[in-house]
Amino acid sequence: MADLIIPPLIPVSREQRERTLGQQAHIFWLTGLSGSGKSTLAGLLETKLQERGHKTMLLDGDVLRMGLNSDLGFSDEDRTENIRRVGEVNQLFFEAGLIVINAFISPFEADRAFVRSRVPSHGFSEVFIKADLTVCESRDTKGMYQKARSGEIALFTGVSSPYEAPAFPELVIETGSQTIEAALEMLLAYAITKVQ
Ligand code: ADX
Repeated sequence: MADLIIPPLIPVSREQRERTLGQQAHIFWLTGLSGSGKSTLAGLLETKLQERGHKTMLLDGDVLRMGLNSDLGFSDEDRTENIRRVGEVNQLFFEAGLIVINAFISPFEADRAFVRSRVPSHGFSEVFIKADLTVCESRDTKGMYQKARSGEIALFTGVSSPYEAPAFPELVIETGSQTIEAALEMLLAYAITKVQ
């Protein structure tokens, strides 16, 4: 009787999936304060990459917190767990050959380093969406800073909870001093070099 051939647990490699999809898998990790422009830029980047024929997935803190992470709040521990779970989801999508675009405050360096550690170094880009707290607060797109200042919302990033700016991000996008169009152009130009 011929020997049984035992298939590997995941028979199709990431490289094979990338060839099928015609792209390099990549994780773009946008981190920054609430109101810095992460979600806006992440959405615009995804749209542009889709227009170019890429296969992408967008993960956003506000959305993930409605489902997978709906049991989590904003204590340091819950934020760490939030990013840990999202990191695992990223790893799976990365192995599927997708381009994953993330928009999470992700205030802790160690949590972002964890996500980075889950994939090969060439597959991860930390993008610091940089805007001063005063700029984000003056935008107050969701009215949350006002509530944070009045004490209606506790543990708000930048007001009553810390934000550790990335020490060595692959890319810094300033959104306080340039238009969203200019910011997108810079982000897209960088992204294209990573995915093809
Ligand atoms: S993270 O810190 O754990 O990475 P995440 O990106 O998932 O945060 O979610 C941030 C979003 O949750 C904000 O865009 C805001 O709409 C909402 N939010 C509600 N309460 C808070 C809070 N205390 N601090 C920060 N964001 C909050």
